[in-house]
Amino acid sequence: MKIGTPLSPGATRVMLLGSGELGKEVIIALQRLGVEVIAVDRYANAPGHQVAHRAHVIDMTDGAALRALVEFERPQLIVPEIEALSTATLADIERDGLATVVPVARATQLTMNREGIRRLAAEELGLPTSGYAFAESLEQIQAAIDAGIGYPCIVKPVMSSSGKGQSLIEGPADVAKAWDYARSGGRVDSGRVIVEAMINFDYEITLLTVRARNAEGNIETTFCAPVGHIQKNGDYVESWQPQAMSETALQKSRDIARAVTDNLGGCGLFGVELFIAGDEVWFSEVSPRPHDTGMVTMVTQWQNEFELHARAILGLPVDTTLRNPGASAVIYGAMDATGISFDAVEQALAVPRTDLRLFGKPEAFERRRMGVALAYGDDVEDSRARARQAAGLVRPVAAG
Ligand SMILES: Nc1ncnc2c1ncn2[C@@H]1O[C@H](COP(=O)(O)OP(=O)(O)OP(=O)(O)O)[C@@H](O)[C@H]1O
Ligand SMILES: [Mg+2]
Repeated sequence: MKIGTPLSPGATRVMLLGSGELGKEVIIALQRLGVEVIAVDRYANAPGHQVAHRAHVIDMTDGAALRALVEFERPQLIVPEIEALSTATLADIERDGLATVVPVARATQLTMNREGIRRLAAEELGLPTSGYAFAESLEQIQAAIDAGIGYPCIVKPVMSSSGKGQSLIEGPADVAKAWDYARSGGRVDSGRVIVEAMINFDYEITLLTVRARNAEGNIETTFCAPVGHIQKNGDYVESWQPQAMSETALQKSRDIARAVTDNLGGCGLFGVELFIAGDEVWFSEVSPRPHDTGMVTMVTQWQNEFELHARAILGLPVDTTLRNPGASAVIYGAMDATGISFDAVEQALAVPRTDLRLFGKPEAFERRRMGVALAYGDDVEDSRARARQAAGLVRPVAAG
């Protein structure tokens, strides 16, 4: 593996599609390895734009615009950070040999739509998942529930993330509201939803799974210690590592993660989301890229999830060893405003063994993730308490 000099004809060029807080960390990891990085997002001054060699603003769902930018910049590698992009264009780019799409174009196609990945996991690979059905009208949702999904269940637009358009149906009275909300919250109003039976899990994890080349040049799968997390309204608020698990549940989790990532293929890090009750494990979904709950690895692993992704996609060996327990807690914008400040940062960082990431997003929203507090220590519970404490001390304030 050869890495050239950035900004010279021999540069190793990587293009990030999506340059939020996760992309920003991938870019920093690539920069440290001497890679030339081009950051793309739908708005100016996105977090990753601020640390890349070059920044572009385009609508990544516009296939022609995406293709034109790739032809102009000529990256060797294209690294999608978001789901909402023209995955058909990525497939064309891959087919034409214009660039390598990470991990492979098919993985981005299957995971951008809940239907693709769910049918693959449940119907092709035979993995345990919640009961599910797809629907395109209020009547079809009701019919799916009556035919066996039952109550409680969850309705989600097939194309959405971060809990957008998602709602819990506890009884017949909630069905119409869930349908309306799904139609308003989807990425594109395809009007298609998945109805999922509610799994009554003890806890949920993200199993960060890496496909990378070993010293012999063969692709090998390795797992990080499980990341536990808490979600509110479909968005993560706290995560920690390691999540304590029974040997059986851990082994089943790894088997499921391996089956899914083997099928998707390519090199890179994947975030496999799993629900666990006792020794039972259900597959939920997978990100073919670093996962938000995995931000905790910035204080728990020798190589965090972003460094693992960077190394894997470049064909370099990885080490997924846990260094010490730790936790992360999200910092929200708490207001709708541009150019906000964060006050009392010194108080937050005075909490022992903590660290902070402020993403530098130009615009805050009440529930927009603007930063994350990280804490490490000897045990997970104590780290969680300090991460929450530090996050709570950071005070978003209006500009001025
Ligand atoms: N079938 C289910 N049973 C129980 N809980 C569920 C189910 N589906 C989703 N949830 C809960 O809602 C959360 C978000 O669901 P899911 O991951 O499908 O949404 P998402 O919009 O893709 O979120 P993100 O993009 O943040 O991963 C899950 O992490 C879990 O806590
Ligand atoms: Mg999820």
